[in-house]
Amino acid sequence: MHDPASTRYDNPALYRACGRSGLKLPRISLGLWHNFGDTDDPANRRALILRAFDLGITHFDLANNYGPPPGSAERNFGHVLHTDLAAHRDELIISSKAGYLMWDGPYGEWGSRKNLLASLDQSLKRLQLDYVDIFYSHRPDPATPLEETMGALAHAVRAGKALYVGLSNYNPEQTTRAAQILRELGTPCLIHQPKYHMFERTPEQGLLTVLAKEGIGCIPFCPLAQGLLTNRYLAGIPADSRAAHDPRFLKPEHITEAKVAQIRQLNALAQARSQSLAQMALAWVLRQPAVTTALIGASRVSQIEDNLGALKNLKFTTEELSAIDRILG
Ligand SMILES: NC(=O)c1ccc[n+]([C@@H]2O[C@H](COP(=O)([O-])OP(=O)(O)OC[C@H]3O[C@@H](n4cnc5c(N)ncnc54)[C@H](OP(=O)(O)O)[C@@H]3O)[C@@H](O)[C@H]2O)c1
Repeated sequence: MHDPASTRYDNPALYRACGRSGLKLPRISLGLWHNFGDTDDPANRRALILRAFDLGITHFDLANNYGPPPGSAERNFGHVLHTDLAAHRDELIISSKAGYLMWDGPYGEWGSRKNLLASLDQSLKRLQLDYVDIFYSHRPDPATPLEETMGALAHAVRAGKALYVGLSNYNPEQTTRAAQILRELGTPCLIHQPKYHMFERTPEQGLLTVLAKEGIGCIPFCPLAQGLLTNRYLAGIPADSRAAHDPRFLKPEHITEAKVAQIRQLNALAQARSQSLAQMALAWVLRQPAVTTALIGASRVSQIEDNLGALKNLKFTTEELSAIDRILG
């Protein structure tokens, strides 16, 4: 059993209410999409989770399909939870999702009641939990009535298998309709998980406004653009980086000369603010009032430590924001 740091809650400013709910989340949350599968080092997986917890990070984000292989991140997290953190379940916010391909046949993905509720049961088994804190519809399903997908989320809460529900990758119109249905079902939407970082600003075109209006919290995923918005790729592609050793989503061909030139300019701006580029990129998403927490990934403990340092300076001058806009074009 892990003996957690007694200092882990020493910084109350680390927590912020998620939308118009009573649930506080840490301003930096840890996602287990990469680096927690069966192909990753078990000692490092455990170290990342426990260091995050010791630093006050109470929120861990998973999905049915995280791995590889799919499902293994939940199983591996469940193992650490039970061997090291079993006494601390009530200090943790653990989320999972369903919607992307998980098993063969017509029920293994998307947004039917059948998929969502079967997937949630599978996730709970892998995590060795009775309930998750947040259960998400991972993506909108154009072929399933929104009422059915939202009904499945609300059912998960009524059945005691989730405490709150969330949406991921829904556009502003879908979010507005889904929030209305969930409200009518008595299960308000807690949180929305969109992709949002300096190179992907779509949420600024309506979604953040909808979330603020609806009182839904926002947890942007990939705030560091999978590592692009860090010092990782300033001078080539290191062998131990995601782009080199796990290029399922971040491919070496995405790291163009033009992109690296932008990253170098952003890095100079971060240095002028006495921040690492990762810290500035996190502060940049957290500057939005609608954003509750930034959902980072990490391959090593030192990255989590560095990223929490972002909270020391979340303010931007108008000149700094304009300079960032100019660099991003
Ligand atoms: N809802 C969805 O559809 C969806 C989709 C994708 C992700 N997500 C969620 O978002 C989470 C985060 O995604 P992500 O891992 O792509 O996030 P990210 O924070 O954008 O990128 C994480 C990567 O950046 C690098 N890094 C992190 N901190 C660093 C630092 N201080 N200095 C240098 N490099 C640093 C590491 O790369 P190296 O590995 O190269 O060291 C790390 O693996 C996922 O785990 C998942 O929970 C959700």
